[in-house]
Amino acid sequence: MRAHIAVLPGDGIGPEVTAAAVEVLRDVAGHAGHLIDFSEHGIGGIAIDDTGDPLPQATIDGCLGSDAVLLGAVGGPKWSDPQAKVRPEQGLLALRAKLGVYANLRPLRVHPRLAAHSPLKAENLVGVDLLFVRELTGGAYFGRKAREGDAAVDECRYTTGEIERVVRRACALARSRRGKLTSVDKANVLETSRLWRATTTRVVAEHPGVTLEHQLVDSMAMLLLTRPSAYDVIVTENLFGDILTDEAAALAGSLGVSPSASLGDGRRGLYEPIHGSAPDIAGQGVANPIGAILSAALLLRHSLGLDAEAAAVEAAVDSVFEHGELTRDLGGTAGTREVTDAVLARLAAQRKAAA
Ligand code: NAD
Ligand code: IPM
Ligand code: MN
Repeated sequence: MRAHIAVLPGDGIGPEVTAAAVEVLRDVAGHAGHLIDFSEHGIGGIAIDDTGDPLPQATIDGCLGSDAVLLGAVGGPKWSDPQAKVRPEQGLLALRAKLGVYANLRPLRVHPRLAAHSPLKAENLVGVDLLFVRELTGGAYFGRKAREGDAAVDECRYTTGEIERVVRRACALARSRRGKLTSVDKANVLETSRLWRATTTRVVAEHPGVTLEHQLVDSMAMLLLTRPSAYDVIVTENLFGDILTDEAAALAGSLGVSPSASLGDGRRGLYEPIHGSAPDIAGQGVANPIGAILSAALLLRHSLGLDAEAAAVEAAVDSVFEHGELTRDLGGTAGTREVTDAVLARLAAQRKAAA
């Protein structure tokens, strides 16, 4: 097959981790006989520096002309002045909206070798296999923002249609897994959450084989720590999903290993690790590339339909965890280069074993 991937490295450790993911994609595609080509585009702080715009038109065009978009991270102290007229993060939000990727899939499993690095006891992590489906193009992120005298406003708005489409996606995913859907809201306080709950209840009723449970977001934050293995697919609105997925990522040992796939109605998706630009470690060659590499695996699966290749990358990552080539965030001493090489070596070993 032929495919074109738009690569948006962004800021901080973004370029370091996307380079690793592109190496893995090149390797896998090359050996499977697929012709994948890549084009690089600016986004975030670096694009502000170059063009004044965190999402230049050329980047939008590059993404719309691609089969999939691979993104690193945006933002950093240089562009974080509260008075700044434009911020890197606006570029990322605008891109998600432009691509119409309303469903953000954030899978989370805990590899037994990494459990020791989790803040939870290893025995509480057995069997943890979560899939968050975070609504990505609505809510407080995209509502009216204003300063009114000495006050500030962020409007949180959801339409029934926005809730229906992401919940349908979550139901389809739940059906392909253990059939258990947990919807997270704050329906005891927020009107948007009451619409969310009513809509979710109605949509799930159209999906035999999916059981639904509602949880309030504050207690869900607690339950993720006390019984994380009790959940399967968790669907929630944009802001709650942002917060809960960083919390859940810590269970797996580090924010650096969590991937994401952002999908809309078409095949084209946006793939990015869930972590940020990590300014504290940028440029040192120590960033964990696994979140980006696993995002590349999701790209192979969801946008290119290359399921076997995606599974091969995931197995290679598991094997790297097994053998302990770990970056500092996981208590190891390996750098980005060594971990990437270890993944490539496992892929080569798999091919040799299969030949
Ligand atoms: P962060 O995720 O960048 O970093 C949080 C902590 O996790 C830091 O200590 C960092 O060193 C560590 N970390 C993150 N990724 C790592 C990796 N791959 N390997 C090793 N350690 C890793 O969050 P932050 O510091 O709150 O935000 C920094 C900037 O990133 C902000 O400007 C924020 O807006 C932006 N951000 C961007 C994205 C994105 O582009 N998708 C996501 C989150 C935050
Ligand atoms: C994420 C990030 C972004 C978000 C920021 C950088 C806009 O935290 O992808 O999780 O809040 O969605
Ligand atoms: Mn986040």
